[in-house]
Amino acid sequence: MTLPFDGAISRFHAQEAPQEIRDAIARADKDAILDPGFPYAEEMKGKHYDKTMEALQIELVKMQAWVKESGARVAIVFEGRDAAGKGGTIKRLRENLNPRGARVVALSKPSDTEATQWYFQRYIDHLPAGGEIVFYDRSWYNRGVVEKVFGFCTDAQREHFFAQVPDFEKMLVEEGIVLVKLWLNVGRGEQLRRFLEREGDPLKQWKLSWIDVEGLKKWDAYSAAIAETLERSHTAEAPWTVIRSDDKRRARIESIRHVLTRLDYSNRDAKALGACDPKIVGGPEIWHG
Ligand code: ADP
Ligand code: AMP
Ligand code: MLT
Repeated sequence: MTLPFDGAISRFHAQEAPQEIRDAIARADKDAILDPGFPYAEEMKGKHYDKTMEALQIELVKMQAWVKESGARVAIVFEGRDAAGKGGTIKRLRENLNPRGARVVALSKPSDTEATQWYFQRYIDHLPAGGEIVFYDRSWYNRGVVEKVFGFCTDAQREHFFAQVPDFEKMLVEEGIVLVKLWLNVGRGEQLRRFLEREGDPLKQWKLSWIDVEGLKKWDAYSAAIAETLERSHTAEAPWTVIRSDDKRRARIESIRHVLTRLDYSNRDAKALGACDPKIVGGPEIWHG
């Protein structure tokens, strides 16, 4: 299979990437974290990760049983740059759950008809019924970020979105839906490293798109759009949780932990759940571009 942008990531890496990013990628070995500001120098060890993950998986199963029994409705929004790890984290959240009652919603760009609807409308169609957990892999926050960066919406449409989003989410929460908003924060070097790996891996190439390739040149525009989005949509009713995601193992563990702590499921094993790592999880103040 030949992709239309074949080799484009490597070319960007060789010709356009900032020198410090290129140096960091060249210097680092596989386990090293690229971002010098990251709170850990190395990825979490595999053994520790496997053990922690296994205990958390058991908690997730209990959590789903509780969701079904109690009729809770849970919506979890995953946001973050391309290659931040949204897909991989959702996969780990779902792997031991009954797929009937744990859905992923990953919508493509709006169709011509959808483009004429209220912006939130097509996402509302997928909200959870009683006993369901819905994972949004990207969400209505496209209007805050990718649509701004690529000019897919007008500034007026984006302003309208920011004016509506707090009330929209407040309504969901008042309605009794548990809304969890996770922002996965990946650094520039790690993002490029993951793109390079995807480009070279026939099993991962499907994850690359034209947006990813063009987006490489728009790091700063993304940073500005994300910072504004976090600021304007971090509300008391529906706050953001930021997960530093340069280490995908820690990011997955802390994401799962955070979801579990937000739900009051029965038979909770506090030891298995463990404590959140404040170096990895926090509010918008820990996000950086
Ligand atoms: P993904 O991150 O899911 O691999 P992309 O990086 O290709 O997907 O695109 C990022 C987001 O931008 C997706 O949610 C996609 O639906 C959205 N998008 C792409 N093209 C458009 C468009 N023309 N108008 C609005 N949204 C778009
Ligand atoms: P996945 O979510 O399984 O598709 O993985 C995302 C990408 O992150 C893969 O291409 C991994 O190889 C890459 N990656 C490599 N090293 C690390 C690291 N230390 N921390 C986070 N991600 C990494
Ligand atoms: C991610 O890794 O964040 C998601 O899978 C989205 C993407 O393809 O970049």
